[in-house]
Amino acid sequence: MKTKITEMFEIEHPIIQGGMHYVGFAELAAAVSSAGGLGIITGLTQRTPKALANEIGRCREMTNRPFGVNLTFLPAVTPPDYPGYIRAIIDGGIKVVETAGNNPQKWLPALKEAGIKVIHKCTSVRHSLKAESIGCDAVSVDGFECGGHPGEDDVPNFILLPRAAEELKIPFVASGGMADGRSLVAALSLGADGMNMGTRFIATKEAPVHEHVKQALLAATELDTRLVMRPLRNTERVLKNAAVDRLLEKEKALGPKIKFEDILGEVGGVYPRIMKEGDMDAGAWSCGMVAGLIHDIPTVKELIDRTMSEAEAIIGRRLASFMQA
Ligand SMILES: Cc1cc2nc3c(=O)[nH]c(=O)nc-3n(C[C@H](O)[C@H](O)[C@H](O)COP(=O)(O)O)c2cc1C
Repeated sequence: MKTKITEMFEIEHPIIQGGMHYVGFAELAAAVSSAGGLGIITGLTQRTPKALANEIGRCREMTNRPFGVNLTFLPAVTPPDYPGYIRAIIDGGIKVVETAGNNPQKWLPALKEAGIKVIHKCTSVRHSLKAESIGCDAVSVDGFECGGHPGEDDVPNFILLPRAAEELKIPFVASGGMADGRSLVAALSLGADGMNMGTRFIATKEAPVHEHVKQALLAATELDTRLVMRPLRNTERVLKNAAVDRLLEKEKALGPKIKFEDILGEVGGVYPRIMKEGDMDAGAWSCGMVAGLIHDIPTVKELIDRTMSEAEAIIGRRLASFMQA
């Protein structure tokens, strides 16, 4: 399949694996890129720029296809060493960066000068247009159903994607709720040039996370996610568990007075315990409603190949059949 996204990122299939904290290691990024998609290493999961440089090197040993790095810009009292991470990305020969969170404008000149394409993840048309205006090459439009941070506007992809298509000149991929060939065809129909998957890629053989995480996704339905941290205007869609129940109780009890420190136990530094140790109640972890569409743990290549053949069958047979008089 050829779209503006496959051409821009020089990949075979218009499928991107979104950056995921403590999931987006070299193993997953390399598997996605080797299967013809665009794998992404999660920059900030690597504790230092040097560790990121090592991870990029490891990934390069595992695949000769292009892969990218995610850099998430979050409000922080002591911000990470962003200039150092950007240096590691440039020196590592990376050609695609997925930015997310705050406006990446400050970092664009250095990335552009190094010939790096930037795809910014946005949860609204407003932010997508801003990304376009500051010179991003593409955007990843993340609907309300997505795992992670859906923003505060709550617009699902059936509205958000065609709205993005109405306004944007740069290409975009659909993100949030994407699982298979049906998702890809729907995304293309609504104006996207590809799709970004997060949660779906966690339930693959190569995803370097504890087996408990994959089993939790198999067991979950589309009814099992919750929105947390809404009162802090830092809404995150997570899988329901004991820690999330506790967190929501605190939100209810403290109301608008709640502070980040009140929920530190449920959200602070919990990812290694969940993703590496498989302690599924250790805290809140991002998960999309798409969990309801996850019924197996294929290899990444099986997942991508079947997504593409399903998409081709829908376009070439199912949709074409409606057009026969
Ligand atoms: C476990 C997990 C961790 C994530 N961590 C990040 C992150 O560190 N930075 C980021 O930009 N997005 C992160 N995301 C969001 C994904 O990149 C992607 O936008 C989202 O998962 C798409 O929605 P889906 O899960 O419905 O496919 C994370 C998502 C999940 C499920």
